[in-house]
Order: sequence, then C-alpha cells, then structure tokens
Amino acid sequence: MFAMDKKITVRTLQNRKAQGEKIVMLTAYDAVTARWAEEAGCDMLLVGDSMANTVLGYPTTLPLTIEESLFHTAAVRRGAQHAFVVGDMTFMSYQLGVDDAVRNAGRYLKEAGADAVKLEGGRVMLPVIRRMVEVGIPVVGHIGLLPQSIHKDGGYRIHGKSDAEAEGLLADAKALDEAGVCSFVIEGVPREVAARLTAAVRVPTIGIGAGAGCDGQVQVIADLLGLAPEGGFLPRHAKNYARFNEAAIAAIRQYAAEVRQGAFPTDANSTSIAKN
Ligand code: KIV
Repeated sequence: MFAMDKKITVRTLQNRKAQGEKIVMLTAYDAVTARWAEEAGCDMLLVGDSMANTVLGYPTTLPLTIEESLFHTAAVRRGAQHAFVVGDMTFMSYQLGVDDAVRNAGRYLKEAGADAVKLEGGRVMLPVIRRMVEVGIPVVGHIGLLPQSIHKDGGYRIHGKSDAEAEGLLADAKALDEAGVCSFVIEGVPREVAARLTAAVRVPTIGIGAGAGCDGQVQVIADLLGLAPEGGFLPRHAKNYARFNEAAIAAIRQYAAEVRQGAFPTDANSTSIAKN
C-alpha cells in the first residue's frame, strides 16, 4: 500500500505536474472518510459541497451553509495529517464582494485548518481570486459544469462541446492560471477540451467527467463507495468501487434481528458484578 509520509503542499502538487505524476483527489466529509482516504493514499481531500446532496439530504448543493461546511472541513482536517485539505466555499459565501469572499475564505484556513479553498467560476471570479492569492490564501478554481449554477444553466450539462464554449473555457483556464490559483477542477467537459486546457496552463488540473488527460482526478466518495441504493442514479463519470449501502443495511439488519432474538448482547458484550 502507498504510505503517505510527507505533508502534501502546493509545491508537491506543482512537482507532480512537472514530473507527469497523477494527482489523486477524493471528497471527504468527516474524520472517518478523511482517514480512509488518507490511508489509501489520496493526495488531496475536497470537503465538497456535494456533501449537501450525498450525505446531508439536500436536493442540491445550494442550501449548504458556510457554518456547516466549516464544521465538516474541521472534521476532515482532524482525520488527515498529511493530505492537502480543500474547503469548498458554499453558494453565496464568495459572490457578494471581494472583502466578504476573502473574509470567508480566511475562515477555512483559520478556523477549520484547510490548506486551500475552492470556488466555482472562471474569469468572472478573477477579482476575488486575485485578492485571496495576494493575502496568502491558496485557491483551487473550478470551471466547466458548475453545480452552484444549476438554476442558471437549467440543469447539469456538459460544457465546452461547441467551439465557442471550448474557447471560453480556454480563456477561463488561462485567466485562473495567471491569477495564481494553485490548481483547478475541470468538471463535465469533453476529454479533448480538458486535455487542451491542461496543456495550456502551468498549474495542475483535476478532472471529473473530463477524461484522463487532466493532471489528476477527483471523485465523490459517496459514488466511489456506493453509499446510494444500487440501481439509483450514478453519473457517467463515476464508478462504484464498493457497495457500502447494501453492506451497511445487511449489518444493521443482522444487529436488529439479534436484538429481537435476544442473541445480542451476550455476556461477552457486558459486565457482571461477579466477574468483569
Ligand atoms: O463538491 C464537490 O464534490 C465538487 C466536485 C464534484 C469537484 O465540487
């Protein structure tokens, strides 16, 4: 197994791109998933706002509050010593002006121990990104499909299929690179376009639904572990590497049955006055 013995920093990520070594990012939402991901060798842990739909029961990522996100980011930090932890800024925590955005971004580093923040948007977010970088906050960008813009876009769709959209993404990618992001996510973009963006920038790109040509990949842990019921919606870009949903229900069903039958707890699961 890959043992991670060194803190991952922005320089590690940069070196990975320079040496052509893939970067592995996974979402994590608490200390347990962070520990699993770190022990399995993930470089970057994204405390994604996808936690809103995958584990907190919201219909989209929009309702998640910054307080909820900070709470989970701090838990991930406690569970991972070496991985590069990225706090995912919530909807409306960075869109209301540069000062407000920088203050909120700072909270991820000061209060939750994150190594960087991530925010959605290309050229439109440049003033915010530039100021964050100026004051020492590492920023991970995010372009392509932007889940926080689901209502504006009328749903989740692939971005960059037309020449005009692909050129727009290229301009976004170059602008983020110039502004000093330490990396950026490319989501839901044709693989040829994502590979072109990756070749055009100095910083590592992390793809999701963007093909194998990116410098790294990110997946949502709920998809990877199979936390949703089998046969439910699984995005085309995702893969179940395990079926935790069925394993969890089977284990809990057995527990319930044993309680009802009187088979649990046994004497081994309890203490006695006579003998400990
Ligand atoms: O919140 C999230 O999980 C994300 C990934 C899909 C990149 O932003």
